[in-house]
Amino acid sequence: MRAVLALAVAGLVLCLASGQTPSDAQTELATKIRSNVVRLWNATWAQGALDGQAPLGAVFYFSSPAAGELTIPLGNATLQGSPMQPYSQFLAASQSKIFTSATVLMLAEQGKVGLNDSIAKYLPVVAADLTYPNRTADGQVINGSSIEVQDLLRHTAGLHERPDPDGNTQFVPHSQLWARYFAIPGNNLMIGIPGKDRSYSDEGAQLAAYIIQNVTGQSLKQVIADLITKPLGLNSTVEGGDVPFSKAAIAPNLTDAFLRNTNNASSRIPFYDPSVDWGTASMISAAPDTGHFLQALFDGRGRLLTDASVARMTDFEEDFEEADGDVKNPPFIEDGYGLGVQGFEVPELGPGIFWGHAGVDPGYSSFACYGREANTTFALFLNNENLEPIRNLMLDGVAEVLNGTATA
Ligand SMILES: *[C@@H]1O[C@H](CO)[C@@H](O)[C@H](O)[C@H]1NC(C)=O
Ligand SMILES: *[C@@H]1O[C@H](CO)[C@@H](O)[C@H](O)[C@H]1NC(C)=O
Ligand SMILES: *[C@@H]1O[C@H](CO)[C@@H](O)[C@H](O)[C@H]1NC(C)=O
Ligand SMILES: *[C@@H]1O[C@H](CO)[C@@H](O)[C@H](O)[C@H]1NC(C)=O
Ligand SMILES: *[C@@H]1O[C@H](CO)[C@@H](O)[C@H](O)[C@H]1NC(C)=O
Ligand SMILES: *[C@@H]1O[C@H](CO)[C@@H](O)[C@H](O)[C@H]1NC(C)=O
Ligand SMILES: *[C@@H]1O[C@H](CO)[C@@H](O)[C@H](O)[C@H]1NC(C)=O
Ligand SMILES: *[C@@H]1O[C@H](CO)[C@@H](O)[C@H](O)[C@H]1NC(C)=O
Ligand SMILES: *[C@@H]1O[C@H](CO)[C@@H](O)[C@H](O)[C@H]1NC(C)=O
Ligand SMILES: *[C@@H]1O[C@H](CO)[C@@H](O)[C@H](O)[C@H]1NC(C)=O
Ligand SMILES: *[C@@H]1O[C@H](CO)[C@@H](O)[C@H](O)[C@H]1NC(C)=O
Repeated sequence: MRAVLALAVAGLVLCLASGQTPSDAQTELATKIRSNVVRLWNATWAQGALDGQAPLGAVFYFSSPAAGELTIPLGNATLQGSPMQPYSQFLAASQSKIFTSATVLMLAEQGKVGLNDSIAKYLPVVAADLTYPNRTADGQVINGSSIEVQDLLRHTAGLHERPDPDGNTQFVPHSQLWARYFAIPGNNLMIGIPGKDRSYSDEGAQLAAYIIQNVTGQSLKQVIADLITKPLGLNSTVEGGDVPFSKAAIAPNLTDAFLRNTNNASSRIPFYDPSVDWGTASMISAAPDTGHFLQALFDGRGRLLTDASVARMTDFEEDFEEADGDVKNPPFIEDGYGLGVQGFEVPELGPGIFWGHAGVDPGYSSFACYGREANTTFALFLNNENLEPIRNLMLDGVAEVLNGTATA
């Protein structure tokens, strides 16, 4: 049945794309998408669905040539019942890898770092501490000096995964992170051949963050602000793992983190300090900010990176072998992983490959992507970890309208 659309719902916000006034056709389509997304969200809540694991709230950002730009805050940001706002903030978790990688690529364009350089050039002590236990088939010696900067960004450095930091509530200075890694027996022994084997490791992006600081002489937080968030006006996006977390000073609009639904106050979880994830999962962001970031990175208008750098970042080489050892490659890495960025098909949103990342931290989850062929952006942040059902709900909410199959 064709959609009979509800009237615009209070609490929804329509943003104008980069100062452009949307056309009537865009406004009409955006209104349909908003109504359908809210309908699905409300229905999910009303049915008590998601096995008691519904998030307290979410913010959904969408942009396409046909619909223009829209941001939909859903549900509540805090247990006290303050409603979600368009620029409500969340831990962005592994989406931070895109920020770290983009920063390295920008510094590479400035000639400050070489993607093909050995990490020994920037981190000689770390490089000297790493060894690969065996020689290669042709007798070559492999050690930390064999790791190139690009290997840190695409999980091909042959590193172990870090200890599981779930539930971290303590500030950990980043100067201690590498010592923590080496404190684990055997972590100095590499598990894969750099540039040949793939092993998912958050340590890679962390080492890249040390390199960013080494070649700029500034903090990661400052470099990301100077190169990315200030020029793009991403006022709700900040690197949050550099100093002990303070909501007032770092992220005044940070939403409360939940494991379960709102009816259960005991399910509010203690604040997870992202310092232990410095460089790899320490960004705090908001849905429209992340959408704008991906557009600026990938839409080909050269606002952050040259086309050559974008091509390099999104070169999803598939011929890596899985490393031996304690490899926990998450499934998404199989879909194609470039330099800190994941590539995948999202037929609900349109044709072509979409570039982005998923992120999960205790109490938060998110998914954002940009497809250049469809010129379409999707960014979703939740204040719980039950990402997949809500992401599918939002994808359906959009696709039903685009496909003309939405039901009221
Ligand atoms: C969704 O729920 C909100 C809050 O309960 C309500 O104000 C709104 O009318 C509902 N919208 C739709 C489309 O069901
Ligand atoms: C949001 O908070 C309001 C006010 O406390 C409450 O009535 C409502 O049920 C809450 N909604 C959700 C989705 O938790
Ligand atoms: C740098 O690395 C890229 C990607 O592996 C490779 O294609 C290129 O040939 C390398 N460049 C040099 C100069 O080694
Ligand atoms: C690392 O391996 C290279 C050969 O690939 C060798 O020249 C160098 O001495 C090794 N470094 C250490 C610290 O073992
Ligand atoms: C090194 O070689 C030994 C024996 O040849 C083998 O058991 C081990 O798995 C190898 N380790 C790596 C990391 O390849
Ligand atoms: C970068 O690393 C080199 C080599 O260890 C070191 O000499 C230099 O002081 C470092 N620079 C900064 C800014 O940390
Ligand atoms: C960010 O702040 C700048 C300067 O105050 C302002 O011009 C800009 O509109 C803000 N951006 C957003 C998305 O609010
Ligand atoms: C916080 O939210 C308020 C109200 O929505 C907004 O004006 C402000 O810019 C936001 N600040 C940050 C840092 O997100
Ligand atoms: C609330 O959450 C706690 C811990 O997750 C659980 O043990 C308890 O059964 C929940 N209570 C309700 C009423 O859902
Ligand atoms: C994508 O759409 C935006 C407006 O939403 C437009 O400014 C931009 O030029 C488009 N990019 C491409 C590559 O078509
Ligand atoms: C909408 O169309 C796309 C592309 O044909 C398809 O993959 C998707 O499943 C459809 N979604 C819905 C909700 O009909």
